[in-house]
Amino acid sequence: ERTTPPPHLLTLADLSPGQITTLLQNAMAMKHVFKTIHPKALIGSLDRRTIALLFSKRSTRTRVASETSVEALGGHPMFLGKDDIQLGVNETLEDTARVVGSMVDGIMARVGGHHEIETLAKHSPVPIVNALSDLYHPTQILADLLTLIETYAPVPPPPSQQERDPNSLNGKKVAWIGDTNNITNELLVTLPRFGMEFRLAAPEGYNKVDPRVWARVTEAGTENLVKLTTKPAEALTDADIVVTDTWISMGQEQEKAERLQAFKGYQITNKMVTDAGANADWKFLHCLPRKQEEVDDEVFYGPRSLVFPEAENRKWTIMACFE
Ligand code: CP
Ligand code: NVA
Repeated sequence: ERTTPPPHLLTLADLSPGQITTLLQNAMAMKHVFKTIHPKALIGSLDRRTIALLFSKRSTRTRVASETSVEALGGHPMFLGKDDIQLGVNETLEDTARVVGSMVDGIMARVGGHHEIETLAKHSPVPIVNALSDLYHPTQILADLLTLIETYAPVPPPPSQQERDPNSLNGKKVAWIGDTNNITNELLVTLPRFGMEFRLAAPEGYNKVDPRVWARVTEAGTENLVKLTTKPAEALTDADIVVTDTWISMGQEQEKAERLQAFKGYQITNKMVTDAGANADWKFLHCLPRKQEEVDDEVFYGPRSLVFPEAENRKWTIMACFE
């Protein structure tokens, strides 16, 4: 049975764990049908519908996952990059949301400031999905959850073997080593609600959680599952899952030199994780794109790394959002 998702998806903090679980189960079901039965066996729920992909920043995964998902469901993905339409140059976000929204059935938008996606959502007559803002990246963390469920949940017996139980994530310890950014924020408002501990290690000056994000953590009553530190070793003790992201997010390019300096000593290596006493079977996640400074090749391309299944799972989880 499928529940009706809310009209917009700006952050997973707006969805209950039950609604997130439904999205993940739909993603598992669609992945199973597409890969092991036949792509054409998917229901064409977007038949003759258009989804506008309004991207003001670069993207590989989110764009490819969105375009292929809309097509797989029988719809038309209309990519509108920042140089294609009037947005930001000649026309306001409000007018763009009203005009584009009057002609399409949904909008997936990658923006700069989070207020931009909020403005689109306020004025669009059709659902808005956040394809990344400076504050949140909900579709990324859906893929992370799917990847972790595939790693930790036992495969149930037929006929429902594509539906693994997200409760298997309960009690897992996650160590984030690096910057505090949109990915961290989305993890913070989501993982603890699945019973996961989230330890964030970031250097002094980069370890402040945005008050809007912390308000969602306290609202969920999950502060006890969150630990903030400046010492990677503290976050890594007993960790099951180690996560990081770039130290220089899109829009921070001018801070590159000072950031590279500030994050010295935070590069994830097997030695760092092992010396800190992580779980012997620890796994590694990264949303990509990746730079070598935040994680070395041995970890990134090693047997503990889940990064490529994680990237592929962008497709199945985004498909579940469009269904
Ligand atoms: N992880 C992610 O959002 O990648 P892209 O920026 O390539 O879409
Ligand atoms: N934190 C990164 C994520 C990219 C997917 C950024 O915002 O650039």
